[in-house]
Amino acid sequence: PTPAAWSHADDFLADMLVGDDDALAAALDAQRAAGLPEIEVAPVAGKLLNLLVRISGARRVLEIGTLGGYSTIWMARAVGPEGRVVTIEAEAVNAGIARASIDAAGVGERVDIRVGRGADVLPTLVGGFDLVFIDADKESNTIYLDWAAKLGHPGTVIVLDNVGREGEIVDEHTTDPKVIGTREGLRMLREDPRFDATALQTVGAKGWDGFALAVVVEAAGLD
Ligand code: DHB
Ligand code: MG
Repeated sequence: PTPAAWSHADDFLADMLVGDDDALAAALDAQRAAGLPEIEVAPVAGKLLNLLVRISGARRVLEIGTLGGYSTIWMARAVGPEGRVVTIEAEAVNAGIARASIDAAGVGERVDIRVGRGADVLPTLVGGFDLVFIDADKESNTIYLDWAAKLGHPGTVIVLDNVGREGEIVDEHTTDPKVIGTREGLRMLREDPRFDATALQTVGAKGWDGFALAVVVEAAGLD
């Protein structure tokens, strides 16, 4: 099996179960036209986020890393008319593109885009988030996980993207800051008593990668 075969099978599964969608296609077109990096979640993963929101009954969702709003739209559709997605984007240009695409998708009233670095914006947020999707600069993963726990509650679902990195995560001597940040995030999910987690590798449209799935648990002795 080759990366091309994974990608072909991923396209097949997306065609089979995820389907065509004008608003999502337009969001991707807009982000491509603006030259944003093509690192949004795969269609099957966007649908997974949508399903996780629905399965968990999440009404308040926090996203760290909006990019062009593709994953944001997937989750905003799932929170229901009274639900809200707060999404943090460091780049004002990206946030503008996301704003237009999210509004065009008809879920604008559910989505609050906060422009700024996560480390600056997160301390300003009011907690109570039921699901947190972390998909921003990997170097800050432990900061984001800490805030996900603080702004969540026991039962809050956390999805941490990009924990496979073509298998490079096993390299304890890596000098790649993204891999280091990913490894530190995984270590925190293991060692910090606020989390219980697993991780799955993925192959497909985005090559070989993966995501961690965690739940915030009641941890004794925390304030
Ligand atoms: C990168 C970031 C992502 O969020 C992703 O899904 C893929 C790649 C990156 O920064 O390399
Ligand atoms: Mg990602």
